[in-house]
Amino acid sequence: MDQSFAITPSVTWVGKIDHELTHFHGEELSTHRGSSYNAYLVRGEKTVLIDTVWRPYAYQFVENLESVIDLKEIDYIISLHSEIDHSGSLPALLEKIPGTPVYCSQNGAKMLKAHYHQDWNFHPVKTGDTLDIGGGKTFTFVEARMLHWPDNMMAFLSGDNILFSTDVFGQHFATEFMYNDQVNQDALYYEAEKYYANIVAPFSKMAAMKLKEVKAMNLPLSMICPSHGVIWRDNPGQIVEAYEKWSSYYHHNKITIVYDTMWQSTRKMAEAIAAGIKQADSEVEVVVRSASKHDKNDIVTDVFNSKAVLFGSPTVIRSPLSPIVAVLDLINAMDIKDKKAATFGSYGWSGEAAKVMAEHLEKAGFEIVQDGIRTMWVPDEDALEQCRAFGEEFAKKVK
Ligand SMILES: Cc1cc2nc3c(=O)[nH]c(=O)nc-3n(C[C@H](O)[C@H](O)[C@H](O)COP(=O)(O)O)c2cc1C
Ligand SMILES: [Fe+2]
Ligand SMILES: [Fe+2]
Repeated sequence: MDQSFAITPSVTWVGKIDHELTHFHGEELSTHRGSSYNAYLVRGEKTVLIDTVWRPYAYQFVENLESVIDLKEIDYIISLHSEIDHSGSLPALLEKIPGTPVYCSQNGAKMLKAHYHQDWNFHPVKTGDTLDIGGGKTFTFVEARMLHWPDNMMAFLSGDNILFSTDVFGQHFATEFMYNDQVNQDALYYEAEKYYANIVAPFSKMAAMKLKEVKAMNLPLSMICPSHGVIWRDNPGQIVEAYEKWSSYYHHNKITIVYDTMWQSTRKMAEAIAAGIKQADSEVEVVVRSASKHDKNDIVTDVFNSKAVLFGSPTVIRSPLSPIVAVLDLINAMDIKDKKAATFGSYGWSGEAAKVMAEHLEKAGFEIVQDGIRTMWVPDEDALEQCRAFGEEFAKKVK
């Protein structure tokens, strides 16, 4: 017996809590709090398995499932998303119960075939299609294309009134608690927002449309079960509202300063600018991040919820330092925009970095509100005073 948890008399969680996961999508996304791959067993007159877990845990998953149910009793599999963190145990499972119908979106069928190259018994469905499993329980499928892959799909279970929401509303958050009301709220919301900023944000337009569509369905929601992290049972509408906020122009009263440095001059400039901002506006939250020392996904999250940003880098062979370029690229890729910005940096002779960063930011859709400030070599007291004044001016402009 490994891991299972009864959520309702008819729904059992049969996923995997991955406490040791530190990165997801290769090394691309940090997961400081681990993650979980949520799979659910739903029993009406028929029995349904929703999703599986990441491939390294396939053997454990199948063994665990066998301790909960005779696999032959599984009538249908619903695959909400073909990504390997959720589909990775399908080959091991379907080897044991070949021919079991796999319900998925049309894109899901294509993508599962392209991942596993097997001719499973696919039953492609589209928005509005239903699967009646008896006992007063029916699944209604809602496609969630590009949230965040072309195949994502949600399934609403009437009877229990649960929305199985796939990656949407998920968090990379490993906890032995199952529900949103049991965990530290700051940690939960940080992980949910980081997930949004680093995975869902490029598809915010689609997210906003899908939220409208789901709201218009007036589903009586008792729970939202995402495919990562905790289940939203206490006021499940709260995460829908959070997504509504995050998917439209969103910010706190916060300015994030992102810099990198070789010999500390640009760091000194960053600190002087931060002091200037504080002097001009005692209310605004100022966050200072080193692009090389702090985690890039946390930085993206800071930028995502800031009203304004400052980027600083020395010039190195006519360019900003590579960790800064990486963060700028990530922000552009995540389609984070519509924020005020300015740049700064130390230099020795040609000093292009401030201009190059401003160009990156403008291209990404940020508004440059003042010319970048540059200091030649190591800043003296005068130069630092100019940086403080630069910070003050910036704070006033973005207030
Ligand atoms: C490898 C290297 C390449 C550099 N290339 C340039 C350059 O192309 N243009 C320029 O203006 N300064 C260049 N510099 C000078 C730095 O911008 C200068 O040392 C600056 O003060 C460093 O700021 P920091 O203390 O924040 O690292 C270069 C420095 C190094 C070490
Ligand atoms: Fe995914
Ligand atoms: Fe996922």
